[in-house]
Amino acid sequence: MICDNLTVKDGVLYFAGQNTVELAKKYGTPLYLLDEDKIREKCRIYKHAFEKHFGPGSQLLYASKANCFKQIYEIMTEEKMGIDVVSSGEIYVALKAGYDLSDAYFHSNNKTDEDISYAMEKGIGYFVADNVEEVKAVEKEAARRGIKQKLLLRLTPGIDPHTYEAIATGKVDSKFGTPIETGQADEIVEFTLKQEHILLEGFHCHVGSQVFGEDIFERAAVVMLEFIAAMRDKYGYTARVLDLGGGYGVRYIESDPYLDIEIKVGQVAASIKETCRRLNLEMPEIHMEPGRSIVADAGMTLYTVGTVKKIPGYKNYVSIDGGMPDNPRFALYRSSYTCLPANKMDEKCDFQCSVVGRCCESGDIIQEHVMMPESIGRYDTVAVCTTGAYNYSMASNYNKLPRPPIVMLRGGRESYVAVKRESFEDLVRNDV
Ligand code: LLP
Repeated sequence: MICDNLTVKDGVLYFAGQNTVELAKKYGTPLYLLDEDKIREKCRIYKHAFEKHFGPGSQLLYASKANCFKQIYEIMTEEKMGIDVVSSGEIYVALKAGYDLSDAYFHSNNKTDEDISYAMEKGIGYFVADNVEEVKAVEKEAARRGIKQKLLLRLTPGIDPHTYEAIATGKVDSKFGTPIETGQADEIVEFTLKQEHILLEGFHCHVGSQVFGEDIFERAAVVMLEFIAAMRDKYGYTARVLDLGGGYGVRYIESDPYLDIEIKVGQVAASIKETCRRLNLEMPEIHMEPGRSIVADAGMTLYTVGTVKKIPGYKNYVSIDGGMPDNPRFALYRSSYTCLPANKMDEKCDFQCSVVGRCCESGDIIQEHVMMPESIGRYDTVAVCTTGAYNYSMASNYNKLPRPPIVMLRGGRESYVAVKRESFEDLVRNDV
């Protein structure tokens, strides 16, 4: 099994210790499940590794974009995690959950004046400015409010993370951040240091998501530390914070590698300490903002099978009652997923098929080349694993399908609704 929260009993798939077929019956399908214990465990693994290798000043932020709803912020408050937010909408949800924004970092490559004003009004801890335009806008608003705003600068270290193009962000020509290689990073530092209402706390980089590459974080950290040393030598400014961006990749299928977060963090820390020694630099406060690796394998989506279509000599289709509106990742990135016959786990899987959604679009595919039991048919339950990240947060109402609910699982037997299933009425709420 791809994750240790999956088990099988009497031919039935159990997730987080609970019977998935029963859960599908109780809450209906499509259904997002989230294993609360796994989310907390992941927060603790990261926190423990950071405290061990980087000391108490280090900080972990949950990247809200991976899965954003009120309850997740309550968990982050309890787990003492900071948060990364990218819009006024995410800030609003966090506030609704009572999250203290002093530990929140506002990212994105294009914050509007309204965003900046809203975030400051609500007391956001830090802005992460992507470019000089944003530094100017933050300065203007901070001056208007008569405050000094803490800020990090997002820089592009020029590293290729070897992930898929849509989520590779560390290269020089990226839409995100200000490049070091072109000299623009140097200029933005000089400019920011002159601003009266900005406290430049340090630098941020994010090379990409779903990163497995051996030494990607190490290489990014070395480039960033060398830049910090160069700024110290040039402007007498020493960054207090170095934020290394998103977290590690996760396993979607059996052949994906397993990464031990504590070991990986230890390797990055060793490289950072060594580089700091070489540059005669005091180690900055190290931050990281994992999203996917906090919530991905805490998630599963359950569907009910409708039509099974066999086209002899060509292809077989298993159609489920959701699809690209609740999981657009195959349509967007051809992402891999593990699909399981939740109520037929003891049957031999020798029927090759595509698991497809119910939308009027050929690209509405959850996964191709899936092996299911020959008997798979109407009313069977299909489980798609590792859907906790970038599924609910990227969901739409395409074809006017109501978004599924999120049901949280904890303690091996408790389940509760954290986000209700959308109703038909929700689909016309804003229509006038
Ligand atoms: N920090 C920044 C500045 C980011 O842009 C991201 C992700 C993260 C942190 C969190 O990265 P993670 O730990 O989740 O890898 N929709 C795509 C993923 C987009 C990621 C965008 N940025 C997907 O479904 O794969």
